[in-house]
Amino acid sequence: MRILVLGNGAREHAIIKSLLIDPSVKIIIAAPGNAGIAQDVETFNINLDDIKEISEFAVLQQIDLVIVGPEKPLVLGISDAIRARGIACFGPSEEAAQLESSKSFAKDIMNAANVPTAKSFTCISINEVIVALEQFGAPYVVKNDGLAGGKGVVVTENMEEAISHAESCLQESNSKVVIEEFLKGPEISLFCITDGKTVLALDAAQDYKRVGDNNTGLNTGGMGAYSPLDWAPKDLKEQTVNQIAMPVINEMNRRGISFSGLLYVGLVLTENGLKVIEFNVRFGDPETQVVLSRLATPLSKVLYASAVGELEKIENLNWRPEACVTVVLAAKNYPTNPVLGDEITGLGQAIQVPGVQIFHAGTTLINGKIVSSGGRVLSVTAMGEDLAIARDRVYEALKKIELSGSHYRTDIALMKQ
Ligand code: AMP
Ligand code: GLY
Repeated sequence: MRILVLGNGAREHAIIKSLLIDPSVKIIIAAPGNAGIAQDVETFNINLDDIKEISEFAVLQQIDLVIVGPEKPLVLGISDAIRARGIACFGPSEEAAQLESSKSFAKDIMNAANVPTAKSFTCISINEVIVALEQFGAPYVVKNDGLAGGKGVVVTENMEEAISHAESCLQESNSKVVIEEFLKGPEISLFCITDGKTVLALDAAQDYKRVGDNNTGLNTGGMGAYSPLDWAPKDLKEQTVNQIAMPVINEMNRRGISFSGLLYVGLVLTENGLKVIEFNVRFGDPETQVVLSRLATPLSKVLYASAVGELEKIENLNWRPEACVTVVLAAKNYPTNPVLGDEITGLGQAIQVPGVQIFHAGTTLINGKIVSSGGRVLSVTAMGEDLAIARDRVYEALKKIELSGSHYRTDIALMKQ
């Protein structure tokens, strides 16, 4: 099989590393990739917003399967364009991607499908916002309706801050803001692979969204993750498939929208059971780094089956028994104003630590040197017999990596979120 992976993050690097150990994959190429991905496969510098160019490129390269990493090209209709050229694509259509690109659409589907989620109001004026905030009380949860790259949600005890975020959301083009009931409990990320008929749940992971230890500071794209979750309900996958993913997919089908690809179910385990806080329509980052590191079933088989509507043929997924931890090394001043362009050293020593893999995110090769080029720079990942061993290995590896002013959380996998 010839596979094209789209994206430039550690998530895509983890997908590629999994495909590299998959015997049925002949050729892997990536666009645009990063310095780490380029050490493993050939990369092509194509702008992912250019749907036409990418689909033409896939034809030219005789690709059998395109795997789309980030949400933006999905929301722009990349899957539709690739399928129109007769090539299999792992990722939902533009219409189905609304589950991520519009919080109000996702809420509407969940309500119609009776899926447990936070109560919410979709508001179009500040007066409606105030009524909704007063009804739910603090802490207030205010969500931008559209894609916001992890910066769309404000959770605050402060009414003025809630109103000011709502005002800025209302000023944006689609002029909608979602006000939600606050859900209390640990968060879980569960990836469900589907072809629009069958759903296969992957093992769960937990993501650490705040920049600082003990969940302090600003929200980020994700600072670390671990899997498995020994504290989660034993029937977590069954509950999520039967009470959330399948009802959502059925409701989408009823509306004439087939969802295939990955439904990322963001859950809170409340005292009244599991509730959805968000859907994404692609692999999560950094959760993918730990989930795929533990997947023993060849990845291409599963993603191809999802893309061509044959997921029922895959009976069971196999998992490695070890635990996995990933910690994100971020650039100085991430997430506010990351400093880029500094050399990264020590990667060779870090990779010598047993069980460690390094997935690159914001890195570029300049004059033979690996240089930082994004806020989240590396995802340092380790397998171990248990979480404590995996954690120790990650932090041992991180000590060997040098990047001026960089930082990382020191409490990943220590406590549940
Ligand atoms: P989202 O972009 O929807 O994942 O939200 C980002 C983060 O905000 C989540 O990971 C949660 O930590 C928090 N959050 C979102 N919705 C809620 C909610 N209804 N109750 C509590 N926390 C929430
Ligand atoms: N880790 C959260 C996300 O990928 O959206």
